[in-house]
Amino acid sequence: MADQSLYTKLTSTAKNFVLALSPKEPGSNQSDDDRFLSHIAPNYTHSWGHKFFVGTSPGVQGSVDGPEFLSRMNKLAGKMQTWYIEITETCVDVEKKSAALKADFYMTIAGHEPVLNEIVWWLKMDGSGEKVVDSCEYIDPVASSHMIEQMKGPYSHFRVGCSILLANGSFVQGANVENAAYPVTTCAERVAMATAVVQGAKKGDIRAVAVATDISPPASPCGMCRQFLREFCELNMPIFMFDKDAKSTVMTLGQLLPMSFGPESLLSTEDIQHGLHQ
Ligand code: THU
Repeated sequence: MADQSLYTKLTSTAKNFVLALSPKEPGSNQSDDDRFLSHIAPNYTHSWGHKFFVGTSPGVQGSVDGPEFLSRMNKLAGKMQTWYIEITETCVDVEKKSAALKADFYMTIAGHEPVLNEIVWWLKMDGSGEKVVDSCEYIDPVASSHMIEQMKGPYSHFRVGCSILLANGSFVQGANVENAAYPVTTCAERVAMATAVVQGAKKGDIRAVAVATDISPPASPCGMCRQFLREFCELNMPIFMFDKDAKSTVMTLGQLLPMSFGPESLLSTEDIQHGLHQ
């Protein structure tokens, strides 16, 4: 093949490979797996640049095959609102059938300004120049750590959701509200329960409580929340605990808080007055 036509082929293979990492639909957060797979050779491997350039975390060290690369891509894509790729530089070596590309990845997380991640790709093509055999990605470490920060929750990175079913069929919801002074953080259950109380819910109005987290086995309400719920809920009220796969375990409040202390354990006003007069 004449050098010029091989050069053209290698250039378009390299550009198409990088652009195949664009979202399936512009503006969406779905990766285009089939498009990506159509540009790689069967023995394809991917690696992330110099390990200390990219980061010291084992997640981006070593090499992965096409499906593993895609599965990582999909995980990342799910955390983003969308992203957009623009190739800014291309340098092709016809003899080595390799190419170096610089691409601007504009990555958007919901509620944040897009982050520009300047990524350098080092690609090796097969004998025909049509498929990519090896790719190596050099990520902008400042941009990628900025992205990671945006993806994380504020402090614990532990998401808790709580939903309370009232006797009238309505639901009251809550989530954990964290604070820079960590102990000031309020759990999802107390946020939801306090909201229900302010909305007028009384003891006897609460049918069930559900708590959801991203872990398995499911998390149960902390001791403080059990006590908080105890003030407003019957001991036979069910508490559904959902795990990361939305499977639930159910226990009553009484089972989660045996021999509990409640308002009825306190002295009545008459007892106090009687005591004072003794
Ligand atoms: N958390 C809850 O929201 N409910 C619980 O019952 C346990 C803990 C939250 C509080 C904090 O935001 C994070 O989980 C880690 O403790």
